[in-house]
Amino acid sequence: MNRDLERLQPYPFEKLNALKAQVSAPTDRAHIALSIGEPKHEPPAFVLQSLSDNLNRVVNYPSTKGLPELRETIAQWLTRRFKLNPGSVDAERHVLPVNGTREALFAFAQAVIDRTQNPLVVSPNPFYQIYEGAAFLAGADPYFLNCERENDYLPDFDSVPADVWQRCQLLFLCSPGNPTGTVVDTATLKKLIALADQYDFVIASDECYSELYFDEEQPPVGLLQACAELGRDDYRRCVVFHSLSKRSNLPGLRSGFVAGDAEVMEKFLLYRTYHGCAMPVTNQLASIAAWNDEAHVKANRDAYRAKFDAVLKILDGIVDVERPDASFYLWAKTGNMSDVEFAQRLFAEQNITVLPGRYIAREANGVNPGENHVRMALVATVEECVEAAERIKQFVTQQSS
Ligand SMILES: Cc1ncc(COP(=O)(O)O)c(C=O)c1O
Repeated sequence: MNRDLERLQPYPFEKLNALKAQVSAPTDRAHIALSIGEPKHEPPAFVLQSLSDNLNRVVNYPSTKGLPELRETIAQWLTRRFKLNPGSVDAERHVLPVNGTREALFAFAQAVIDRTQNPLVVSPNPFYQIYEGAAFLAGADPYFLNCERENDYLPDFDSVPADVWQRCQLLFLCSPGNPTGTVVDTATLKKLIALADQYDFVIASDECYSELYFDEEQPPVGLLQACAELGRDDYRRCVVFHSLSKRSNLPGLRSGFVAGDAEVMEKFLLYRTYHGCAMPVTNQLASIAAWNDEAHVKANRDAYRAKFDAVLKILDGIVDVERPDASFYLWAKTGNMSDVEFAQRLFAEQNITVLPGRYIAREANGVNPGENHVRMALVATVEECVEAAERIKQFVTQQSS
Protein backbone atom coordinates (compact mmCIF):
# COMPACT_ATOMS: atom_id res chain seq x y z
CA MET A 1 0.00 0.00 0.00
CA ASN A 2 0.98 3.63 -0.41
CA ARG A 3 2.99 4.39 2.74
CA ASP A 4 1.96 8.05 2.63
CA LEU A 5 -1.62 6.99 3.51
CA GLU A 6 -0.33 6.30 7.01
CA ARG A 7 0.48 9.98 7.42
CA LEU A 8 -3.17 11.03 7.04
CA GLN A 9 -4.82 12.25 10.24
CA PRO A 10 -8.34 11.25 11.29
CA TYR A 11 -10.83 13.80 10.00
CA PRO A 12 -11.86 16.42 12.65
CA PHE A 13 -15.40 15.06 12.80
CA GLU A 14 -14.15 11.59 13.71
CA LYS A 15 -12.38 13.12 16.70
CA LEU A 16 -15.50 15.11 17.53
CA ASN A 17 -17.74 12.02 17.42
CA ALA A 18 -15.38 10.19 19.77
CA LEU A 19 -15.43 13.16 22.17
CA LYS A 20 -19.23 13.31 22.16
CA ALA A 21 -19.55 9.54 22.64
CA GLN A 22 -18.03 9.88 26.13
CA VAL A 23 -21.07 11.84 27.37
CA SER A 24 -24.80 11.97 26.74
CA ALA A 25 -26.82 15.00 25.76
CA PRO A 26 -29.97 16.19 27.57
CA THR A 27 -33.12 14.79 25.99
CA ASP A 28 -35.35 17.76 26.89
CA ARG A 29 -33.92 20.02 24.17
CA ALA A 30 -33.35 19.49 20.48
CA HIS A 31 -29.85 19.05 19.13
CA ILE A 32 -28.36 22.02 17.29
CA ALA A 33 -25.28 21.39 15.14
CA LEU A 34 -22.95 24.36 14.72
CA SER A 35 -20.12 22.02 13.89
CA ILE A 36 -20.35 21.23 10.19
CA GLY A 37 -19.89 23.90 7.53
CA GLU A 38 -22.72 22.61 5.37
CA PRO A 39 -25.01 25.40 4.16
CA LYS A 40 -28.66 24.94 5.10
CA HIS A 41 -30.27 27.84 3.24
CA GLU A 42 -32.47 26.95 0.28
CA PRO A 43 -30.67 26.42 -3.03
CA PRO A 44 -31.93 28.56 -5.94
CA ALA A 45 -35.04 27.00 -7.49
CA PHE A 46 -33.87 27.82 -11.03
CA VAL A 47 -30.74 25.71 -10.52
CA LEU A 48 -32.83 22.72 -9.41
CA GLN A 49 -35.06 23.33 -12.44
CA SER A 50 -32.05 23.34 -14.73
CA LEU A 51 -30.90 20.03 -13.23
CA SER A 52 -34.24 18.39 -13.84
CA ASP A 53 -34.56 19.91 -17.33
CA ASN A 54 -31.18 18.48 -18.31
CA LEU A 55 -31.27 15.05 -16.71
CA ASN A 56 -31.17 13.46 -20.14
CA ARG A 57 -27.63 14.80 -20.60
CA VAL A 58 -26.34 11.96 -18.44
CA VAL A 59 -26.22 9.96 -21.68
CA ASN A 60 -23.06 11.90 -22.66
CA TYR A 61 -19.55 11.44 -21.31
CA PRO A 62 -18.44 14.88 -20.12
CA SER A 63 -15.02 16.18 -21.13
CA THR A 64 -12.52 16.94 -18.37
CA LYS A 65 -12.05 20.43 -19.71
CA GLY A 66 -15.78 21.13 -19.44
CA LEU A 67 -18.24 22.90 -21.70
CA PRO A 68 -16.91 26.07 -23.37
CA GLU A 69 -20.11 27.85 -22.23
CA LEU A 70 -19.37 27.03 -18.60
CA ARG A 71 -15.74 28.15 -18.83
CA GLU A 72 -16.82 31.36 -20.57
CA THR A 73 -19.45 32.03 -17.88
CA ILE A 74 -16.80 31.55 -15.20
CA ALA A 75 -14.30 33.80 -16.99
CA GLN A 76 -16.92 36.54 -17.13
CA TRP A 77 -17.93 36.05 -13.51
CA LEU A 78 -14.31 36.33 -12.37
CA THR A 79 -13.78 39.44 -14.48
CA ARG A 80 -16.89 41.15 -13.06
CA ARG A 81 -16.39 40.09 -9.47
CA PHE A 82 -12.67 40.80 -9.14
CA LYS A 83 -12.41 43.77 -11.53
CA LEU A 84 -10.02 41.92 -13.85
CA ASN A 85 -8.92 43.42 -17.12
CA PRO A 86 -11.54 42.49 -19.74
CA GLY A 87 -10.30 39.65 -21.91
CA SER A 88 -7.46 38.75 -19.55
CA VAL A 89 -9.14 35.53 -18.42
CA ASP A 90 -9.10 33.24 -21.42
CA ALA A 91 -11.79 30.58 -20.95
CA GLU A 92 -9.74 28.22 -23.14
CA ARG A 93 -6.54 28.40 -21.13
CA HIS A 94 -7.20 29.78 -17.67
CA VAL A 95 -10.31 28.00 -16.37
CA LEU A 96 -11.28 24.43 -15.44
CA PRO A 97 -14.50 23.21 -13.82
CA VAL A 98 -14.02 20.91 -10.80
CA ASN A 99 -16.30 18.67 -8.77
CA GLY A 100 -16.16 20.94 -5.74
CA THR A 101 -13.00 22.57 -4.48
CA ARG A 102 -12.23 19.75 -2.06
CA GLU A 103 -11.19 17.32 -4.76
CA ALA A 104 -9.57 20.15 -6.71
CA LEU A 105 -7.37 21.30 -3.83
CA PHE A 106 -6.26 17.73 -3.30
CA ALA A 107 -5.68 17.01 -6.97
CA PHE A 108 -3.88 20.30 -7.54
CA ALA A 109 -1.11 19.41 -5.10
CA GLN A 110 -0.62 16.08 -6.86
CA ALA A 111 -0.14 17.88 -10.17
CA VAL A 112 2.10 20.67 -8.89
CA ILE A 113 4.49 19.02 -6.43
CA ASP A 114 7.84 17.64 -7.56
CA ARG A 115 8.47 15.03 -4.88
CA THR A 116 12.13 14.63 -5.78
CA GLN A 117 13.02 18.09 -4.44
CA ASN A 118 12.27 17.72 -0.70
CA PRO A 119 9.15 19.86 -1.13
CA LEU A 120 7.20 21.89 1.41
CA VAL A 121 3.57 22.91 1.21
CA VAL A 122 3.04 26.06 3.27
CA SER A 123 -0.41 26.38 4.81
CA PRO A 124 -2.28 28.49 7.36
CA ASN A 125 -2.91 26.90 10.75
CA PRO A 126 -5.80 26.23 11.64
CA PHE A 127 -6.69 25.05 8.17
CA TYR A 128 -8.95 22.98 5.95
CA GLN A 129 -7.63 19.48 6.46
CA ILE A 130 -7.42 18.66 2.77
CA TYR A 131 -4.33 20.93 2.46
CA GLU A 132 -2.39 18.66 4.78
CA GLY A 133 -3.58 15.37 3.25
CA ALA A 134 -2.86 16.69 -0.23
CA ALA A 135 0.69 17.55 0.82
CA PHE A 136 1.29 14.14 2.37
CA LEU A 137 0.04 12.19 -0.61
CA ALA A 138 2.03 14.37 -2.99
CA GLY A 139 5.19 13.42 -1.08
CA ALA A 140 5.61 16.84 0.53
CA ASP A 141 5.82 18.02 4.13
CA PRO A 142 3.34 20.61 5.35
CA TYR A 143 4.76 23.76 6.95
CA PHE A 144 2.20 25.49 9.14
CA LEU A 145 1.88 29.21 9.77
CA ASN A 146 -0.02 29.93 12.95
CA CYS A 147 -2.98 32.32 12.73
CA GLU A 148 -3.43 33.89 16.13
CA ARG A 149 -5.59 36.63 17.61
CA GLU A 150 -2.54 38.91 18.14
CA ASN A 151 -2.00 38.91 14.38
CA ASP A 152 -5.69 39.33 13.42
CA TYR A 153 -5.74 35.58 12.72
CA LEU A 154 -3.48 36.06 9.70
CA PRO A 155 -0.31 34.04 9.08
CA ASP A 156 2.84 36.02 9.87
CA PHE A 157 4.40 35.63 6.44
CA ASP A 158 7.33 37.86 7.42
CA SER A 159 8.46 35.31 9.99
CA VAL A 160 8.93 32.55 7.42
CA PRO A 161 12.65 31.74 7.04
CA ALA A 162 14.24 31.95 3.59
CA ASP A 163 15.08 28.23 3.59
CA VAL A 164 11.37 27.45 3.97
CA TRP A 165 10.44 29.64 1.01
CA GLN A 166 13.29 27.95 -0.86
CA ARG A 167 11.73 24.51 -0.35
CA CYS A 168 8.14 25.76 -0.73
CA GLN A 169 6.54 24.53 -3.95
CA LEU A 170 2.96 25.34 -3.07
CA LEU A 171 1.46 27.97 -0.78
CA PHE A 172 -2.16 27.47 0.27
CA LEU A 173 -4.07 30.59 1.19
CA CYS A 174 -7.59 30.45 2.57
CA SER A 175 -9.27 33.81 2.23
CA PRO A 176 -11.81 34.39 3.69
CA GLY A 177 -10.40 31.86 6.12
CA ASN A 178 -11.99 28.73 7.50
CA PRO A 179 -12.35 28.91 10.51
CA THR A 180 -11.28 32.49 11.23
CA GLY A 181 -13.15 34.36 8.48
CA THR A 182 -10.14 36.65 8.01
CA VAL A 183 -9.50 38.12 4.56
CA VAL A 184 -5.93 38.44 3.29
CA ASP A 185 -5.56 42.04 2.08
CA THR A 186 -4.26 43.20 -1.29
CA ALA A 187 -0.89 44.42 -0.01
CA THR A 188 -0.17 41.00 1.51
CA LEU A 189 -1.28 39.23 -1.66
CA LYS A 190 1.09 41.38 -3.70
CA LYS A 191 3.93 40.65 -1.30
CA LEU A 192 3.25 36.92 -1.61
CA ILE A 193 3.22 37.13 -5.39
CA ALA A 194 6.68 38.75 -5.24
CA LEU A 195 7.86 35.90 -2.97
CA ALA A 196 6.40 33.33 -5.38
CA ASP A 197 8.47 34.89 -8.16
CA GLN A 198 11.59 35.08 -6.03
CA TYR A 199 11.41 31.49 -4.80
CA ASP A 200 9.48 29.92 -7.67
CA PHE A 201 6.38 28.48 -6.03
CA VAL A 202 2.67 28.38 -6.89
CA ILE A 203 0.02 30.16 -4.80
CA ALA A 204 -3.27 28.26 -4.48
CA SER A 205 -5.84 30.65 -3.05
CA ASP A 206 -8.90 28.88 -1.67
CA GLU A 207 -11.60 31.54 -1.97
CA CYS A 208 -14.67 29.37 -1.55
CA TYR A 209 -16.13 31.73 1.12
CA SER A 210 -15.49 34.89 -0.91
CA GLU A 211 -19.17 35.56 -1.58
CA LEU A 212 -20.32 35.43 2.05
CA TYR A 213 -19.45 38.89 3.37
CA PHE A 214 -21.19 41.57 5.39
CA ASP A 215 -20.50 44.89 3.70
CA GLU A 216 -22.07 45.01 0.23
CA GLU A 217 -19.69 47.82 -0.67
CA GLN A 218 -16.55 45.87 0.26
CA PRO A 219 -16.45 42.33 -1.06
CA PRO A 220 -13.28 40.42 -0.14
CA VAL A 221 -10.39 40.87 -2.57
CA GLY A 222 -9.00 37.84 -4.37
CA LEU A 223 -5.60 36.71 -5.61
CA LEU A 224 -6.40 37.33 -9.29
CA GLN A 225 -7.53 40.84 -8.36
CA ALA A 226 -4.12 41.49 -6.81
CA CYS A 227 -2.55 40.20 -10.05
CA ALA A 228 -4.73 42.57 -12.08
CA GLU A 229 -3.63 45.51 -9.95
CA LEU A 230 -0.03 44.53 -10.63
CA GLY A 231 -0.73 44.35 -14.38
CA ARG A 232 0.03 40.65 -14.17
CA ASP A 233 -2.56 39.59 -16.69
CA ASP A 234 -1.04 36.17 -17.26
CA TYR A 235 -1.74 35.35 -13.57
CA ARG A 236 1.63 33.60 -13.44
CA ARG A 237 2.14 31.30 -10.43
CA CYS A 238 -1.36 32.16 -9.16
CA VAL A 239 -4.51 30.05 -9.12
CA VAL A 240 -7.82 30.51 -7.32
CA PHE A 241 -10.43 28.00 -6.17
CA HIS A 242 -14.12 28.92 -6.13
CA SER A 243 -17.22 26.92 -5.34
CA LEU A 244 -20.99 27.00 -5.61
CA SER A 245 -21.29 25.08 -2.33
CA LYS A 246 -21.32 28.08 0.02
CA ARG A 247 -22.13 30.85 -2.46
CA SER A 248 -25.28 29.19 -3.79
CA ASN A 249 -26.15 26.62 -1.09
CA LEU A 250 -25.35 23.76 -3.44
CA PRO A 251 -22.86 21.58 -1.56
CA GLY A 252 -24.29 18.43 -3.12
CA LEU A 253 -23.92 19.68 -6.69
CA ARG A 254 -20.14 19.33 -6.32
CA SER A 255 -19.40 22.27 -8.53
CA GLY A 256 -16.55 24.71 -8.45
CA PHE A 257 -13.70 25.89 -10.61
CA VAL A 258 -9.98 26.53 -10.61
CA ALA A 259 -8.58 29.48 -12.57
CA GLY A 260 -5.25 31.15 -13.14
CA ASP A 261 -1.78 30.59 -14.65
CA ALA A 262 -2.28 28.96 -18.08
CA GLU A 263 0.87 26.81 -17.91
CA VAL A 264 -0.09 25.41 -14.53
CA MET A 265 -3.68 24.87 -15.67
CA GLU A 266 -2.46 22.96 -18.73
CA LYS A 267 -0.60 20.51 -16.49
CA PHE A 268 -3.53 20.34 -14.11
CA LEU A 269 -5.81 19.42 -17.02
CA LEU A 270 -3.40 16.66 -18.03
CA TYR A 271 -3.47 15.31 -14.48
CA ARG A 272 -7.25 15.50 -14.31
CA THR A 273 -7.69 13.70 -17.63
CA TYR A 274 -6.01 10.64 -16.13
CA HIS A 275 -7.60 11.11 -12.74
CA GLY A 276 -11.02 10.95 -14.45
CA CYS A 277 -12.93 13.65 -12.62
CA ALA A 278 -15.01 15.36 -15.30
CA MET A 279 -18.13 17.19 -14.15
CA PRO A 280 -21.41 15.68 -15.46
CA VAL A 281 -22.91 17.83 -18.25
CA THR A 282 -26.18 18.14 -16.29
CA ASN A 283 -24.26 19.73 -13.41
CA GLN A 284 -22.28 21.96 -15.74
CA LEU A 285 -25.49 23.41 -17.22
CA ALA A 286 -26.93 24.00 -13.75
CA SER A 287 -23.64 25.66 -12.74
CA ILE A 288 -23.91 28.10 -15.65
CA ALA A 289 -27.30 29.19 -14.33
CA ALA A 290 -25.93 29.60 -10.80
CA TRP A 291 -22.82 31.64 -11.76
CA ASN A 292 -24.96 33.93 -13.92
CA ASP A 293 -27.20 35.02 -11.06
CA GLU A 294 -26.25 37.28 -8.15
CA ALA A 295 -29.71 37.95 -6.67
CA HIS A 296 -29.80 34.65 -4.79
CA VAL A 297 -26.25 35.23 -3.50
CA LYS A 298 -27.23 38.66 -2.17
CA ALA A 299 -30.26 37.10 -0.46
CA ASN A 300 -27.94 34.49 1.03
CA ARG A 301 -25.68 37.20 2.43
CA ASP A 302 -28.70 39.03 3.86
CA ALA A 303 -29.72 35.86 5.69
CA TYR A 304 -26.23 35.33 7.14
CA ARG A 305 -25.98 38.99 8.13
CA ALA A 306 -29.26 38.71 10.07
CA LYS A 307 -27.97 35.61 11.85
CA PHE A 308 -24.62 37.14 12.79
CA ASP A 309 -26.40 40.28 14.06
CA ALA A 310 -28.79 38.26 16.22
CA VAL A 311 -26.21 35.81 17.56
CA LEU A 312 -23.49 38.38 18.28
CA LYS A 313 -26.02 40.52 20.16
CA ILE A 314 -26.75 37.60 22.49
CA LEU A 315 -23.11 36.60 22.94
CA ASP A 316 -21.88 40.17 23.44
CA GLY A 317 -19.97 40.40 26.72
CA ILE A 318 -20.51 36.66 27.33
CA VAL A 319 -18.24 34.95 24.82
CA ASP A 320 -14.95 36.39 23.55
CA VAL A 321 -15.78 36.51 19.87
CA GLU A 322 -15.77 39.06 17.06
CA ARG A 323 -17.58 39.38 13.78
CA PRO A 324 -15.28 37.92 11.12
CA ASP A 325 -14.39 39.76 7.89
CA ALA A 326 -16.45 37.19 5.98
CA SER A 327 -17.60 33.50 5.88
CA PHE A 328 -20.29 31.86 8.01
CA TYR A 329 -18.07 30.95 10.98
CA LEU A 330 -17.59 32.36 14.43
CA TRP A 331 -14.14 31.59 15.85
CA ALA A 332 -14.75 32.02 19.56
CA LYS A 333 -12.32 31.90 22.45
CA THR A 334 -13.25 29.55 25.28
CA GLY A 335 -11.84 31.51 28.21
CA ASN A 336 -10.53 29.44 31.10
CA MET A 337 -11.90 26.20 29.74
CA SER A 338 -10.04 24.24 27.06
CA ASP A 339 -11.71 24.01 23.66
CA VAL A 340 -12.20 20.26 24.06
CA GLU A 341 -13.83 20.59 27.47
CA PHE A 342 -15.99 23.47 26.25
CA ALA A 343 -17.27 21.45 23.29
CA GLN A 344 -17.89 18.32 25.33
CA ARG A 345 -19.70 20.05 28.17
CA LEU A 346 -21.73 22.25 25.84
CA PHE A 347 -22.95 19.07 24.20
CA ALA A 348 -23.57 17.30 27.52
CA GLU A 349 -25.39 20.24 29.09
CA GLN A 350 -27.06 22.03 26.18
CA ASN A 351 -27.17 19.54 23.29
CA ILE A 352 -25.19 21.84 21.02
CA THR A 353 -22.27 20.68 18.93
CA VAL A 354 -19.34 22.99 18.16
CA LEU A 355 -15.93 22.01 16.84
CA PRO A 356 -12.89 22.22 19.17
CA GLY A 357 -10.30 24.42 17.51
CA ARG A 358 -7.38 22.07 18.09
CA TYR A 359 -9.03 19.46 15.87
CA ILE A 360 -8.53 21.70 12.85
CA ALA A 361 -5.02 22.87 13.73
CA ARG A 362 -1.60 21.35 14.41
CA GLU A 363 1.08 22.19 16.88
CA ALA A 364 3.65 24.47 15.29
CA ASN A 365 6.36 26.46 17.06
CA GLY A 366 5.30 24.83 20.31
CA VAL A 367 1.63 25.92 20.19
CA ASN A 368 -1.57 24.64 18.71
CA PRO A 369 -3.28 27.87 17.59
CA GLY A 370 -6.68 26.15 17.60
CA GLU A 371 -6.52 25.54 21.33
CA ASN A 372 -8.96 27.56 23.41
CA HIS A 373 -11.09 28.30 20.39
CA VAL A 374 -14.21 26.66 19.05
CA ARG A 375 -15.66 26.98 15.59
CA MET A 376 -19.36 27.69 15.27
CA ALA A 377 -20.91 27.50 11.81
CA LEU A 378 -24.03 29.66 11.62
CA VAL A 379 -25.64 27.47 9.00
CA ALA A 380 -28.87 26.50 10.77
CA THR A 381 -32.01 28.66 10.58
CA VAL A 382 -31.99 32.04 12.32
CA GLU A 383 -34.36 30.62 14.97
CA GLU A 384 -32.03 27.71 15.69
CA CYS A 385 -28.94 29.95 15.72
CA VAL A 386 -30.65 32.31 18.17
CA GLU A 387 -31.72 29.36 20.34
CA ALA A 388 -28.14 28.03 20.23
CA ALA A 389 -26.74 31.42 21.23
CA GLU A 390 -29.16 31.62 24.18
CA ARG A 391 -28.11 28.18 25.36
CA ILE A 392 -24.41 29.03 24.93
CA LYS A 393 -25.02 32.16 26.99
CA GLN A 394 -26.67 30.07 29.69
CA PHE A 395 -23.80 27.55 29.60
CA VAL A 396 -21.06 30.18 29.87
CA THR A 397 -22.90 32.15 32.54
CA GLN A 398 -23.33 29.00 34.66
CA GLN A 399 -19.60 28.27 34.47
CA SER A 400 -18.61 31.68 35.71
CA SER A 401 -21.21 31.91 38.51
C1 LIG B 1 -11.82 26.23 3.29
C2 LIG B 1 -12.59 25.26 2.48
N1 LIG B 1 -12.16 24.96 1.25
C3 LIG B 1 -12.81 24.09 0.47
C4 LIG B 1 -13.96 23.45 0.90
C5 LIG B 1 -14.61 22.46 -0.01
O1 LIG B 1 -15.80 22.89 -0.51
P1 LIG B 1 -16.44 22.24 -1.81
O2 LIG B 1 -15.68 20.98 -2.11
O3 LIG B 1 -17.85 21.97 -1.45
O4 LIG B 1 -16.27 23.25 -2.90
C6 LIG B 1 -14.47 23.74 2.17
C7 LIG B 1 -15.68 23.06 2.66
O5 LIG B 1 -16.07 23.11 3.78
C8 LIG B 1 -13.76 24.66 2.99
O6 LIG B 1 -14.18 24.98 4.21
